Amino acid sequence: MASVSLINIEKRYGAQVVIPKLNVEIADGSFVVLVGPSGCGKTTTLNMIAGLEPITAGQLLIGARDVTDLPPKNRDIAMVFQSYALFPHMNVFDNIAFGMKIRRLSRSEIDTRVRNVASRLRIDAFLDRRPKALSGGQRQRVALARAMVRRPGVFLMDEPLSNLDAKLRIEARSFLTKMHHEVRTTTVYVTHDQSEAMTMGDTIVVMKDGLIQQAAAPLEVYNEPANMFVAGFIGSPAMNFLELSKADTKLVDREHELEFPVSDRLRAVLDKYRKAKVVLGLRPDALRPAPRNAEPAGAPRFSVDVAQHLGHETLLDASRGPHRLVARVSGTDDSKIGETRAFLLDLDNMHLFDPDSGANLASGGTGPNAR
Ligand SMILES: Nc1ncnc2c1ncn2[C@@H]1O[C@H](COP(=O)(O)OP(=O)(O)O)[C@@H](O)[C@H]1O
Ligand SMILES: [Mg+2]
Repeated sequence: MASVSLINIEKRYGAQVVIPKLNVEIADGSFVVLVGPSGCGKTTTLNMIAGLEPITAGQLLIGARDVTDLPPKNRDIAMVFQSYALFPHMNVFDNIAFGMKIRRLSRSEIDTRVRNVASRLRIDAFLDRRPKALSGGQRQRVALARAMVRRPGVFLMDEPLSNLDAKLRIEARSFLTKMHHEVRTTTVYVTHDQSEAMTMGDTIVVMKDGLIQQAAAPLEVYNEPANMFVAGFIGSPAMNFLELSKADTKLVDREHELEFPVSDRLRAVLDKYRKAKVVLGLRPDALRPAPRNAEPAGAPRFSVDVAQHLGHETLLDASRGPHRLVARVSGTDDSKIGETRAFLLDLDNMHLFDPDSGANLASGGTGPNAR
């Protein structure tokens, strides 16, 4: 096993800068997820770690070794891709054994390793089948077995679950997490799916335009997003943003008769803030309709535009003037479309952002690379 250090890594394609400067420290045995929208540079980063793309500038260490200019085969890594890229004419056993045969391991060693990994991954019953006789989930496990059997220092995975249907994806997610708890091989996992990142990573690195927006444990990223980009990207449905004016200890939009109190903690933050406009961030779970016969005076009122009934919960799309929001409420909520309702707020679940930089005001500073 090994740690991975990306030190001032830069990637250019001709004049196009894809990764301006990346610094990431991946601890030995950890599961780090690179997450961000399509085109933000995740695959490029992973391919540079793998040695499949040259590094324009900077230094890459795996363990204590500088591997910046080493070919992939000398980096002690194994990669799993989105397309499993299995050999169609070989059975499962030979697909898994392929790399070891190339490296001329003994027949008995190969046999032991293949059967061991196959039973762990629950594909030992299919060793003599060709890939076309397997389901997507089984093929995905064969690709994983082929990587694991090499016992690399580092696993690199690029959207390995995105070809699976939704149900299999969730199964495979917990399966991979369980495997990692067992073998503890350092893993760098790339996905555009924030729920995969949240559920699988020890650390998640949120990227946008080749820049790291935040790198922290999943719940820290969720509860203390560094900026509006992270706040809007992590969490589903996304955080609501309302641009309001600061009025003493409250946030208001007088024209549309909206007023929001803030918690003591945020009041202290707001006191130090000098601009007139501020963005209030509210997760969909931070607001719910007040009972119709007990609407508190001054509670913000929104009109319900759409009610999406999901059974155990309902998503209300609501608006007032230019402001739109989504509230995640109980499945028994009976709000009618077109009805105006007063909303109760969870004051501890509010965030404040600078409308210009996007930085989270509570985390201080200007926010890394905020928009
Ligand atoms: N071979 C290439 N030549 C030029 N630009 C590239 C090449 N490969 C990727 N890019 C660009 O680099 C950026 C990051 O791509 P990529 O790493 O594939 O993103 P992601 O995996 O996050 O979706 C994109 O803007 C993409 O167009
Ligand atoms: Mg990609």
